[in-house]
Amino acid sequence: QQPMMTLNDGRQMPQIGLGVWQMPADETAAAVGEALRNGYRLIDGAARYENEAGLGQAVRDSELPREEIFVTSKLWNDQQGRDKALRGFDATMERLGLDYLDLYLIHWPVPAQDLYVETWKALIGLRDEGRVKSIGVANFHEPHLTRLIDETGVVPALNQIELHPALTQAQMRAVNKRLGIVTQSWSPLGRGADFEAGPVTEIAARLGAEPAQVIIAWHLAHGLSVIPKSQNPGRQRQNLAALELRLSDADIAAIDALDRDIRTGPDPEMFGG
Ligand code: A2P
Repeated sequence: QQPMMTLNDGRQMPQIGLGVWQMPADETAAAVGEALRNGYRLIDGAARYENEAGLGQAVRDSELPREEIFVTSKLWNDQQGRDKALRGFDATMERLGLDYLDLYLIHWPVPAQDLYVETWKALIGLRDEGRVKSIGVANFHEPHLTRLIDETGVVPALNQIELHPALTQAQMRAVNKRLGIVTQSWSPLGRGADFEAGPVTEIAARLGAEPAQVIIAWHLAHGLSVIPKSQNPGRQRQNLAALELRLSDADIAAIDALDRDIRTGPDPEMFGG
């Protein structure tokens, strides 16, 4: 049994999952099918990844009951606003070919559009109708979260943010924690940038593990949900096996010290508008 996290709406989510960002559409069904056979039970998708048809097909074709798989999708920036959000959701469900989503996120706040509160109200409606079990956000900063909460009273279940050893996000982790929001790390491996870092290679050699596993174990040790992307079945298994690794407090601190506040992706304050 994999470690589960309890969201603030009482629902359970696997702590580790498969990210499908940058998977080519025609390779996604095979990669997700492989991941489900390898033991993954959380799949993190998005409309923007343009591979939802493959993701949904793999979920439908698997031998697993639907309720044993946790499926996430995200609403893209140009679909914000009440009516557009509802249409964006319908299009996602059409492509996935599923009856419900486990988690639906606003992909970016896009402060310049100033539509995220209205969009959030649409997601609250979808949740109340049972079409989505849990709702959350991605790439939100404290003022964005505070506005959602102040104006609707509904706290996002989860905030998915860029987080890896070069961008440890201590401040946003603390903000999410204080608000009762689970933090989920995207690009958790920093797209490989820290595989060669001194502490990572040293810990990996000592534990007889791969650098990627050490970094995933670091996320898990911090109580973060983590969604490494791999299309390679061997690396998918390797990443899931990071659940077996135990890092010492000194190991965790050594990786924490790699923080350079460096993003691989866009700045959420500026992006999308
Ligand atoms: P691949 O799909 O060929 O395995 P991130 O999740 O931080 O965005 O990083 C994803 C990148 O890291 C992908 O290019 C992926 O390539 C690679 N990757 C994923 N898992 C591993 C691993 N265990 N060892 C080495 N590279 C990995």
